[in-house]
Amino acid sequence: MTKHYIEDLSKYVGEEVEIKGWLYNKRSSGKIRFVILRDGTGLAQCVIVKNNVTEEVFNSFDTLTQESSLILKGKVRKEDRAPGGYEIETTDIRIVHIASEYPITPKEHGIEFLSDLRHLWLRSAKQHAIMRVRHEIIRSIREFFDNRGFTLMDAPIFTPAACEGTSTLFETEYFDLGKAYLTQSGQLYGEAGAMAFGKIYVFGPTFRAEKSKTRRHLTEFWMVEPEVAWNDLNDNMELAEDFLEHIVTSVLKNRSNELKVLERNTEKLEKVKKPFPRVAYTEAVEILKKNGVDFQWGNDFGGTDETIISSQFDRPVIVHRYPTEVKAFYMKRDPENPKVALAMDILAPEGYGEIVGGSQREDDYDALVHRIKEHNLPMEAFEWFLDLRRYGSVPHAGFGLGIERTVSWICGLEHIRETIPFPRMIYRLTP
Ligand code: 4AD
Ligand code: MG
Repeated sequence: MTKHYIEDLSKYVGEEVEIKGWLYNKRSSGKIRFVILRDGTGLAQCVIVKNNVTEEVFNSFDTLTQESSLILKGKVRKEDRAPGGYEIETTDIRIVHIASEYPITPKEHGIEFLSDLRHLWLRSAKQHAIMRVRHEIIRSIREFFDNRGFTLMDAPIFTPAACEGTSTLFETEYFDLGKAYLTQSGQLYGEAGAMAFGKIYVFGPTFRAEKSKTRRHLTEFWMVEPEVAWNDLNDNMELAEDFLEHIVTSVLKNRSNELKVLERNTEKLEKVKKPFPRVAYTEAVEILKKNGVDFQWGNDFGGTDETIISSQFDRPVIVHRYPTEVKAFYMKRDPENPKVALAMDILAPEGYGEIVGGSQREDDYDALVHRIKEHNLPMEAFEWFLDLRRYGSVPHAGFGLGIERTVSWICGLEHIRETIPFPRMIYRLTP
């Protein structure tokens, strides 16, 4: 027998369907009862009229509690006033499980309460919409790279050393081999991949022991990291522009209903078309000063600085050539000005901050050895990485996009905690 899902109801007008789902809500008016059924693909209004069902089925309505599971049969009818535009005239209901009193009701709940019940909260309409947008973002990311001939390269999660600075490392004992660290980024392994396959992307979970309790930080988040042999900083920026435009276009096209549920202003997303404005770090500092910020050249931007810079533009802005001191050891210095690195960050509009970080990589053996020493990193752990500069070194570049920050921006959310099914933050490890 074919399985019927609520999102496909339009295909079954006039036909009998069987929907397996959960009771989202119910109400009655006179001799008519309404069940709002949820099956994970959507919500359907199901009408129960006394004469169309057995007395037993009609009376079972009273026992149904929120989130009870049931199998409902009925005929599909077009009904513009129903959510989704279709209604089911119920002919039979089989109760599978009567749910205990459900803790999440349509009234307002506090964020801590909902976060403790994250495993149930995911059933709510807003969370549902966010997760479907997240899925579309990930799908479109894979599509983008797959269509361009990139090879997917999985990087390890246990690593022997830091990639993005030693202050945010999670460490663990690793048998007789000493300490292992949870990866902060798959990039270094991605570079080995780029030398083997030309163009690759790493896509996986990454970890940062972030002490920051902000609306932009998680301790566990997903990152996608393309790495391309022979690309320079400029090629890297172009790739990132095409990439972001593709993601936003895909969400607008394929998840417009979800964006409506989220009440997202889509006009702002429609503007995400290349070319994106590009400003050098030094120019960005000027923007800050013009806006009354007392900012010292050489410092890194904080969240509020990023918001001021990005609010000057109606689309993502690329900030490039940051001072070497604030950036990672592997970034190549600008041959025209060694004080700055060939780095680029992309700041999302509407105050969502940095969503992309990337650079052209240091491809010179001696310069890289020098940088590893300068950063007090353990040389032994990087010998394999130096091999990439010993055997056929070439210019190359890449970047990392944080999935959760991107979901936050595209969905227009207040806080990053709602962008991942089970968020991990400094004060949250459950459920
Ligand atoms: O700028 P980051 O630290 O860059 C890297 O890790 C590079 N190795 C990437 C590369 O060149 N292959 O991190 C990249 C992105 C940030 O722009 C941000 O979107 C996200 O990862 N990110 C976080 N997202 C959530 N919580 C955190 N604590 C994050 N830290 C970084
Ligand atoms: Mg960064």
